[in-house]
Amino acid sequence: LDTRQTGRLALTATPGKTGFAGGPEGATAGFNQAYLGPTIVMQNGDLDAELRNALDEPVSAHWHGLLVPGEHDGGPHLPIAPGAVWRPAMTIAQDPATIWYHSHIHERTAKQVYFGLAGVIHLTDGRDDDRGLPSDYGLDDLTLVLQDRRFDQAGRMVYNPSMMDVMHGFAGNRMLVNGQAGATAVVPQGMVRLRLLNGANARICTLFFDDARPMHLVATDGGFVAEPIALKMLRLSPGERAEVLVDFAEGGAPILLSDPGQAYGVMQFAVDPRLTARITSIPDQLDGVVDDLPLADAGTRQVSLDMGMGGMGGMGMGGMGMGGRGMGSMGMGRGGFGINGRPYDMRRIDFRVALGSVEKWRIRSTMVAHPFHVHGIRFRVLSENGGPPRPENTGWKDTVLVAGETEIIARFDQPAREDTPFMFHCHILEHEDAGMMGQFTVT
Ligand code: C2O
Ligand code: CU
Ligand code: CU
Repeated sequence: LDTRQTGRLALTATPGKTGFAGGPEGATAGFNQAYLGPTIVMQNGDLDAELRNALDEPVSAHWHGLLVPGEHDGGPHLPIAPGAVWRPAMTIAQDPATIWYHSHIHERTAKQVYFGLAGVIHLTDGRDDDRGLPSDYGLDDLTLVLQDRRFDQAGRMVYNPSMMDVMHGFAGNRMLVNGQAGATAVVPQGMVRLRLLNGANARICTLFFDDARPMHLVATDGGFVAEPIALKMLRLSPGERAEVLVDFAEGGAPILLSDPGQAYGVMQFAVDPRLTARITSIPDQLDGVVDDLPLADAGTRQVSLDMGMGGMGGMGMGGMGMGGRGMGSMGMGRGGFGINGRPYDMRRIDFRVALGSVEKWRIRSTMVAHPFHVHGIRFRVLSENGGPPRPENTGWKDTVLVAGETEIIARFDQPAREDTPFMFHCHILEHEDAGMMGQFTVT
């Protein structure tokens, strides 16, 4: 969907039926289609969006990575009722980035995203040629939504989280790329840009090419990095995006993109020498990161991502091994999930941030690693467990995997009122729905 000329965007949350990998069809949902939504290409400027809901349950459209005020953010306070329309009139003014959108109804996000209510946004400024970056959509600029999904014996996609699935996040047994199992991309014999989105509910991907060819990281969640970073492995947790350049000049046999711990590859790339490669080298420099956040006068906020807390009416630590009770996908038990000791409560504002202020957040994880996401800002990672951030985390981020202690810094430039606050949460969607989320205003 190209909105650059019109400044208009129309999306309808639609019921669908989809079969995957030759399996039987089952109920899915998408935006404008049966599963997932269209890739939206947009530029800075005014955007009049129109979101319709043709499903029989409330949905929302959260723009994950777009810097817009709380009233346009599409979080849990902005549900679109069945049959209703939501018309946010937005002004976009930020650096080019790969962004995504997904439904964000409290206690339903995991299930709704799982069955397809998500899509990708390319925010572009039309200057990628000057940067020496591939930008021919679908030719040398590929959008890859990575999602693991669970299939039963009959090949039907299922979502039936047990208590253990909620504890660990719901894991699949097959990887889908753009809704396809066993995907192959045909690429030109040159430089190809991959815009990778981890759109899984819980799976942390560790991506590498089987022939060990490097991935040159050019952009993270919130925009370009300062210069390309060559990686043999790229870790991408749920909600995170990365843009990498991969050189397919050396072709030959299909090239497998893998993820260890998966009994199967993620997808294959087949080089077609008849396709012309426009770009054949890696740019030396990009215009991404400017260090302009005043570290010295930033106040520090502590954020603890809690699970297994006792005395919250959940199962606590003692109940972990029990398995037993199945969790209804709509009404998950708490399981001791929360932030700073409290489960999410839509009626409680957890804290208030001053508009235009810079804050440092010290985030701590408990029990497992948690992909931590904040609405309304892009941030820099200052440190991870006392050391410098890993290469993947040196650019602008809005989601970061916290395993231990991570410090971030951000300026809060977008306003959010009490009735439409910004969320901060774990992007393991089962954790989020179970209460590992909080909300804040910016005024
Ligand atoms: Cu991608 Cu609050 O979410
Ligand atoms: Cu978000
Ligand atoms: Cu989590």
